[in-house]
Order: sequence, then structure tokens, then C-alpha cells
Amino acid sequence: MFYDTVNFIQNLYRTKKFIPLHEPRFNGNEKAYLNECIDSTFVSSVGEFVDRFETEFAHTVGAKYAIATVNGTAALHISLILAGVEHDDEVITQPLTFIATCNAISYIGASAIFLDVDLETMGLSPVALKSFLEQECIVSDKKCINRSTGKTIKACVPMHTFGHPCRIDEIKTLCDAWHISLVEDAAESLGSYYKEKHTGTFGLLGAFSFNGNKIITSGGGGVIVTDDETLAKRAKHITTTAKIPHKWEYIHDEIAYNYRLPNLNAALLCAQLEQLESFLENKRKLATEYKQFFTVQNIQFIEEPMDVRSNYWLNAILLDDIQQRDEFLEYTNSNSVMTRPIWALMNKLEMFRQWQCGELKNALFLEERVVNIPSSVRL
Ligand SMILES: Cc1ncc(COP(=O)(O)O)c(C=O)c1O
Repeated sequence: MFYDTVNFIQNLYRTKKFIPLHEPRFNGNEKAYLNECIDSTFVSSVGEFVDRFETEFAHTVGAKYAIATVNGTAALHISLILAGVEHDDEVITQPLTFIATCNAISYIGASAIFLDVDLETMGLSPVALKSFLEQECIVSDKKCINRSTGKTIKACVPMHTFGHPCRIDEIKTLCDAWHISLVEDAAESLGSYYKEKHTGTFGLLGAFSFNGNKIITSGGGGVIVTDDETLAKRAKHITTTAKIPHKWEYIHDEIAYNYRLPNLNAALLCAQLEQLESFLENKRKLATEYKQFFTVQNIQFIEEPMDVRSNYWLNAILLDDIQQRDEFLEYTNSNSVMTRPIWALMNKLEMFRQWQCGELKNALFLEERVVNIPSSVRL
């Protein structure tokens, strides 16, 4: 039944060999910058490429500051700490996300409240957020209190699923009104804009990932963005073991983290960032071709929502039901075309089962039907 799809994807990538979901492309200055970095001997977390990448990344997304980290999870972890999340606090997020969002919340000893996503964006629903806040929360002393647990909801972490921006301005308005800090999990959405503003720059802080499967990669890497100078300085300090700069002394003024991005990885990222525009164009063209094909096949291709520009990081289709989804996964994977279902909902994982949930109708619907299809930049 899915013979045509496999054929189509093989033609897109001009191969009958194994087609991965998303493989990196290193066709720019990667090797030159890596050599430069090795020759300089500054391969660790101090070096010119780290500074250069931070400046260029901030400029790319339109943020005042960018602080490079070892990975996106570390960027999220630090962002939550800087947003004031502490042990026993609560953080609103979506259950349809990669586990890193929840891990970062757990590292602090906080817990999540899972609210539903929108069907069109697959990101946190402002409607679900509004109704939860109005029905379940009160504001006391400029703090948002969850009436059922008595705990403070310090932050809200929406995620831009597969690069499609969620309705972030409505979420921001609600967070502001309810004294909740907005931290965007923008791990997947470099190059995505909501009404011409880059994702990750709406909240107090935003976190991006440069894991091997992302639109640009350094093998592993991440970055925090913010417009707040004090937070930016603090982010740099606590990701660098809280070492006080000094000519020779090792003085650290708090227990902190070794989360800075090595210069080697930053060298790769500088080269990757130079190619972002061409990667985005290439991916948009791929998405257009997928859309035309799946329309004829009568299968729903997930398009960018209204008023946004998606990076189309990972393309996805929506199948009729879980049986059809499994048949599709079975057929494509047995025929060397890598496809993957969307994540199992976080509230179903053993570790997060005790966390509070709203009604998750849309998340459950998408969980059973969404499948990612090969999305690498085509050569
Ligand atoms: C939604 C989301 N959040 C966080 C992360 C964590 O990023 P990393 O793998 O760089 O730690 C990822 C990607 O891996 C992600 O997709």
C-alpha cells in the first residue's frame, strides 16, 4: 500500500540505499575551521570560535545575548534555573515533546504540569493554558499558585515541535498576566519565525540544540538566548563552574556546572551557521514536494501553521489511525526508508506519571497518528 511513498522518497534522495531520517551536511568551512581550531590548540571551552559563534547566533535570531552550552538539555536546565525555578516548584509544559524538556525540569527537583497541544501546531495550546490558569490557579503576592497542590508555578516551557512555531504570542500574554516566566524550548526551531520574530526570543530565555539530528549541528551542542544582560552574565558564569576570572587563582563562588561548549564544537557550528539559509531553502523545497505528493495520495502532510515561517526541520504526516501508522512504519522501515512515530506522551513514562495533567485530547490524537519522514537537506 505504501509502495508509492517509498518510491517517491527514493527518487527525492536519488538512492535505493538506506535513507536516514535526518543526516548532517558538512559541505562548507567545517574542516577548515576545525583545522584552525586544532592548530590554535584552543580546543576546549575558551576560544575564538565560541565567542564568534555566540555573536553570530545572537545576530541570526535577533537576541541580545547567546551563551553556548554542551547540549540543548543543559541550555534548558540553566534557563529554568535562571527563570527562578527551584526544588518543589511547578513548570507548565506539553506532554508531546522530547524527554529532555522533562529531564531539565526534573534535574531541579521541580515537577511539570502537562497541558494539551494544538492540533495544527503540535505545540502547547494557549486555549488549554488559559483554561487551566483560570480554573486551577490564583495569583497571590505576584506568584501563580496551583490551587490543587499549593505550589508555585514558576515557568512555562512551550516547545516548537519539529520546527513549527506554536502560538507563542498568546502564550506569552498569558504568562505575563499570571506572573509565570516564559522559557522556550526552541531546540528544534532554528530558522523558524512567528510573525517575523524568531522562535526562542519571545520568552525570558530560549534554548536551542545542535545535536546530530538538528538543522545545524556540532555533534552535540546547545545555546541559551536572552535579552537580559544580567541573566546572560549569570548563564555564562554558572555554565563555567562559577569560576571568578583571575590571572591564576581558582576561586569559584558557588556550586555550578561544567556546561560550556568546547571551541572544537563551536568551530563546526560557525561553519554550519554560514549554511543555514541554504539549508532552510533546501528544506522548504523538500516540504513543498512532499506536500504535492501526499495530497495526491490522500495522506495529510503537516504544513506550517498560519502566520509563521517554519524551518521544516523534520517533515511529518498524519495517518488515519494507529493501525495505518504501524503499517506505514513497518513497510517503510523494512524498505530502507527510515521513518519514526512521534514521541510517546511524557505523562505515560514511568518517571513522570505522578505529574499533573490537563485533558490531553489533541496530544493523544497526534501520538497515535504522526510519523516523521526523511528530511535531510538534499545534495
Ligand atoms: C524538543 C527538544 N528539547 C530538548 C532537546 C535536547 O537537546 P540535546 O539533545 O542537545 O540535549 C531536544 C533535542 O535533542 C529536543 O528535540
